[in-house]
Amino acid sequence: MDCLQQITSDIVWVGGSDRRLALFENMFPLENGVTYNAFVILDDKTALVDTVDSAIRQEFFENLRAALKGRALDYLVINHMEPDHCAHIEDICRMWPEVKIVGNPKTFQMIRQFYRMDLEGRTLEVREGSKLPLGRHSLRFYMAPMVHWPEVMFTYEETERILFSADAFGTFGGYTGNLFSDQADYQRLYLDEARRYYTNIVGKYGQQVLAALDKLSGQPVSLICPLHGPVLRGGDIAFLMEKYRRWASYRPEKPGVVLAYASMYGNTQTAVHRLAGLLSQMGVRDLQMFDVSKTQYSYIIARAFEYSHLVLASPTYNMHLYQGMETLVSDMANLNLQNRGVAVIGNGSWAPVAHTLLKEKLDGMKQMNLIAPPLVIRSAMTPEQDAELEAMAEKLAESVKEQTEGIIE
Ligand code: FEO
Repeated sequence: MDCLQQITSDIVWVGGSDRRLALFENMFPLENGVTYNAFVILDDKTALVDTVDSAIRQEFFENLRAALKGRALDYLVINHMEPDHCAHIEDICRMWPEVKIVGNPKTFQMIRQFYRMDLEGRTLEVREGSKLPLGRHSLRFYMAPMVHWPEVMFTYEETERILFSADAFGTFGGYTGNLFSDQADYQRLYLDEARRYYTNIVGKYGQQVLAALDKLSGQPVSLICPLHGPVLRGGDIAFLMEKYRRWASYRPEKPGVVLAYASMYGNTQTAVHRLAGLLSQMGVRDLQMFDVSKTQYSYIIARAFEYSHLVLASPTYNMHLYQGMETLVSDMANLNLQNRGVAVIGNGSWAPVAHTLLKEKLDGMKQMNLIAPPLVIRSAMTPEQDAELEAMAEKLAESVKEQTEGIIE
């Protein structure tokens, strides 16, 4: 039985969602599944924009057949070759032998790498600005390299002004029935997961995301159809575009402090708790506290992109950072997080090096400004270190206050 939704009178959503998947990319926890979106355009010619993950094969093909109503498929547009969107290219070529696969040179290279398919006579190669008329509708292609992978392109439908944006503007979260963002409270229901999706999946490629956004800036857009999550409509389009510009330029959204710590016996945690209490007394309202052993790093990464300041605290473990902290800071560096005020606390009972290792990591990143000397604990904080902790809190609170006006633009 199909489960379709009309996007417009000629465009149909034929995607689905997977709520059984525990880890997206076998890495990122899914609390409420994920959608895989695909769209059919019905005109003189028919076009399918992207396919879906293999996990939802049955519902996808039921939807696709129902949407086509017995017509043949003329074009399969591939905006992104990651397997969560292109698992069914071979099936489609078998079912509709005359279908033309629309992609750029890198798309076809990746199809051959993943599927060893014979593409002879099946391809329609497009490049920047290429146009594909379907009848009343017409598709224009814009290359968006590294808006997640190098072959990514955006497809813009010119008549109804619809942007098919590949991974951009997507979010975690399964289908709720409200396919359009403005049918529900997008900011309340999706923003956190859209941020976690963007920052962890695409966060590294801010420069390329900004380039893609600039390319589209002159185009009127009535709908954005991403490959995951709701179709964006109304004010949610400008809202999320602004968020993307902010995330991609590594500008924080809010003044506040994310405190991420590792602690084996509670002593490092106590130091961070004391620091947080001081920050609160000094007027810092937004404090986000995470134990890296309890909260999977992708959630902390998202908060680190959201807030202006960061406190990292870790024990020394085998002369390295505690593993959860090592993972977190390495991932921050890998994702190019930058432009934050940072404070560091290191602990070690006989040869403390965590503070030095954290500082080295931060020094290797851009504009991660250490705003107070690292606090070095030997096993547990001493009363004599209270002044040092207070000084750190004062510097942090002052810096949060100073940035507030600059951030809220
Ligand atoms: Fe949803 Fe980059 O794949």
